[in-house]
Amino acid sequence: MAYKTIIEPFRVHTVQAIDLPDQDAREAALIRAGFNLFGLHADEVIIDLLTDSGTGAMSSKQWAGMMLGDESYAGSRSFYRFEEVVKDLTGYSEIIPTHQGRAAEKILFTVAVDEGDTVPNNTHFDTTRANVEYRGAAAVDCVCAEGRDPALEAPFKGDVDIEALRATIEERGVEKVPLVMVTVTNNSGGGQPVSMGNLRAVRAVCDEYGIPMFLDACRFAENAWFIKIREEGYADVTPKAIAQEMFSIADGCTVSAKKDGLANIGGFLALNDREWALQARNLLILTEGFPTYGGLAGYDLEAIATGLEEVVDEKYLNYRIRSTAYLADTIHEAGIPTVRPAGGHAVYLDAAALLPHIPAHEYPAQALAVELYRAGGVRGVEIGTVMFGRARDGEPDEPAAMELVRLAIPRRMYTQSHIDYVGEVVIDVASRASEMRGYRIVEQAPWLRHFTARLEPLG
Ligand SMILES: Cc1ncc(COP(=O)(O)O)c(C=O)c1O
Repeated sequence: MAYKTIIEPFRVHTVQAIDLPDQDAREAALIRAGFNLFGLHADEVIIDLLTDSGTGAMSSKQWAGMMLGDESYAGSRSFYRFEEVVKDLTGYSEIIPTHQGRAAEKILFTVAVDEGDTVPNNTHFDTTRANVEYRGAAAVDCVCAEGRDPALEAPFKGDVDIEALRATIEERGVEKVPLVMVTVTNNSGGGQPVSMGNLRAVRAVCDEYGIPMFLDACRFAENAWFIKIREEGYADVTPKAIAQEMFSIADGCTVSAKKDGLANIGGFLALNDREWALQARNLLILTEGFPTYGGLAGYDLEAIATGLEEVVDEKYLNYRIRSTAYLADTIHEAGIPTVRPAGGHAVYLDAAALLPHIPAHEYPAQALAVELYRAGGVRGVEIGTVMFGRARDGEPDEPAAMELVRLAIPRRMYTQSHIDYVGEVVIDVASRASEMRGYRIVEQAPWLRHFTARLEPLG
């Protein structure tokens, strides 16, 4: 290509209006929401970077495919198309649709995990951790040392620390480790990729102990792209072939189709073990629906099937990863601490480094996220002690490993000028970092408290 600008490989076909509420309206919204950005109405937000999950724009091919949806309760044509696409991509024989990723996790862990067990992962995503813990099991994070150092530039900071994995299995006892999971890309660890070499090393440990290996593969295509551009030997391999190789290393996967499925809803559990699949389908019928729709409409299955085909397109992935890096670089070049290098789907601001005067139990990342909304109507999400810390009776919370604000970029949704605006807001807010104060939680749920907690600013 003669020109350096990587343009969006699509044009806008349908638009939705967005608006910035005035300062008073934003302040009132924050108070009503208990300073929890999950409590805002989406119309109160101008640029919504809360999540990249289910928020992307579908292609006209996906919308057209939805018109072909077969809504038969059993044996729908749309299911068989979905199954064929997922089998071709993953190579797994048992394909179980679910309404989203956490439903696949819930079913897998109900089948495979018992009280007192341990599930290692590079970094458990919040729903994954909660579903493991809900079974009375321990969710242990074994991400490599590089992955715990936000500022460090390294190509595969999502890699599993193989020695930590081995030590976890030895300490807990092999019979107490029913499966090992690897999250690609590692969302809660900064959207960082896992190398093929590391996946093979995890597989070798799993083989040594006879433990099944599963991928949390919500962002498999973004991970495949990072392997292509960063790992030796993959430059000439297509993203789809790389993804197929990643899946071939594991025994199964849970997927939220709301990410690299390019769909607004959906997910699946895919695996080779027929006995586990049988039990999973029985649970599916109880909680999600008949195995050929799994809580989804036939048209959703069509949208996901087309999305899974579109997401491995090289031009899309090049644009996707580059546009995330564009925001990350704007912020980094302004001297604002972020997780480096840029993750696949999001930019992660390092609130612990930006707000050293706010201790973890006063939620620095929450304070920063609230301020981005207050200043510019931009909604990100706290990934820190509100999300992952532990409440302790009468004592400050046990802190999370990192205090991050994630700005997740919905797929094919915002233009470069939207992103330039976000960069301006972040730089403005960061220039007033020393004035920011912490928060305290006044109401919280026993699980996944960040979704519904109410907070109050400290004086
Ligand atoms: C790595 C990872 N795993 C699991 C999930 C859960 O998926 P869902 O929101 O569809 O339940 C997410 C969602 O963001 C995720 O990022």
